[in-house]
Amino acid sequence: MKPAKHITVCINQRANPDTLSCGMRGGLEIADALKTALAENRLEMDVRTFHCLGKCELGPNAKLSPGGEFCHGLDPTDLAPLLKKIAEFVTGSRK
Ligand code: FES
Repeated sequence: MKPAKHITVCINQRANPDTLSCGMRGGLEIADALKTALAENRLEMDVRTFHCLGKCELGPNAKLSPGGEFCHGLDPTDLAPLLKKIAEFVTGSRK
């Protein structure tokens, strides 16, 4: 059985505000907005959260799984580009 497709969004928030973290740049807002947007667009994709995907300087970050790409520099005020990638990933037109 294939594992369910999902997106993991980094919501890590560091205590030191001088150290970059996805949580300080909208990670949690992205995860919450994605859940709503995926439902509205009828895209079957779980949204999971994680604390640091190891690409902090490029964030906010997310990872499409299984086997999908990293998504960097996400904009919590404009999820359209990410939703396009997710739709392609769900339909299999993007790996
Ligand atoms: S804090 Fe998000 S990748 Fe490290």
